[in-house]
Amino acid sequence: MTTVTRTNTETVLQVEDLRTYFRTRWGTVKAVDGISFDLRRGETLGIVGESGCGKSVTMLSLMRLIPIPPGRIVSGSIILDGEDIIQISEQEMAKIRGSKIALIIQDPMTSLNPVFSIGNQVEEAIRIHQDIPKRMVKERALDVLRKVNIPAAETRMKDYPHQMSGGMRQRVVGAIGISCQPQVLIADEPTTSLDVTIQAQYLKLLKDIQRDSNLSIIFITHDFGIVAKMCDRVAVMYAGRIVEHGSVRDIFNNPSHPYTEALLASVPKMDQDVDRLYSIEGQPPPLHDLPIGCAFAERCPDVMDKCRAEYPTNFAVNEGHTASCWKLE
Ligand SMILES: Nc1ncnc2c1ncn2[C@@H]1O[C@H](COP(=O)(O)OP(=O)(O)OP(=O)(O)O)[C@@H](O)[C@H]1O
Ligand code: SF4
Ligand SMILES: [Mg+2]
Repeated sequence: MTTVTRTNTETVLQVEDLRTYFRTRWGTVKAVDGISFDLRRGETLGIVGESGCGKSVTMLSLMRLIPIPPGRIVSGSIILDGEDIIQISEQEMAKIRGSKIALIIQDPMTSLNPVFSIGNQVEEAIRIHQDIPKRMVKERALDVLRKVNIPAAETRMKDYPHQMSGGMRQRVVGAIGISCQPQVLIADEPTTSLDVTIQAQYLKLLKDIQRDSNLSIIFITHDFGIVAKMCDRVAVMYAGRIVEHGSVRDIFNNPSHPYTEALLASVPKMDQDVDRLYSIEGQPPPLHDLPIGCAFAERCPDVMDKCRAEYPTNFAVNEGHTASCWKLE
């Protein structure tokens, strides 16, 4: 077991200079290219960015679920509760996955098995990760289903996924995620398939669970409305890197990277005419052929010569607020 002393008691997860690459026939896809962040106990970190910027690959790296080949974590460290989980064996990782760090993936339908009952699937998660007597497994499964507000949980345990509504299925996936009381819960765009009311209920439920258990959450989303409601801090990703990082207030009130500004400007406002919606022109560069300089240069209204020549340093905007942009030099 590799134990390090860098993590303080407040920090449950510390990611440093993580790089995850995929070998493809076009070349090396640098899906995650040197990202660093930390997560404190009981807090929620939002990760936002356009499709394909590396959010899910980051989270799969944290779970050590990158398919090898074509993928590989090429460098960096992921210190979870004092231990670098990149260095441990797959056997050790299997014990940690689900019990210390759990992932709720994008589509609740694909993360549930259609041929097993709900009860069976929650019990299975508990059996794998918790060393408790057999007779107590069902009781514990019922407990977590009640915790996520499944009505008549005892009866519904016998149901199969297709017998439940989308919102209920999402709750079951949430129940599996929290069934072993992880320290870190990663929710990868967990609400996309839900209507707005059910989404709001589910988010409130996650918040309640977090308050009761001091759970740390990483929330991956495209939706700044969800960030505002759910998160304490935000990391904005662009082309495999974190380009801005700060408290929710910093990011909303003082966005300092032109990409963050553009993302915020593209959020529809209630009173806005749909024709006037701002969207970010152009595309991110391909991740197998990243430029030497700033990856946002081709789309940036403020681009300067230096931006194309050299990747911008990470500058401090305020305490706890950083951005990688030459404008801040
Ligand atoms: N198995 C794989 N083989 C090759 N490339 C991959 C593989 N998995 C992911 N990638 C690449 O890694 C990059 C980042 O993908 P990722 O799924 O992390 O994006 P994302 O930010 O989660 O996007 P979305 O918002 O659409 O979910 C993409 O360019 C993707 O094509
Ligand atoms: S470094 Fe230059 S191109 Fe990149 S975001 Fe800042 S101003 Fe724009
Ligand atoms: Mg994704």
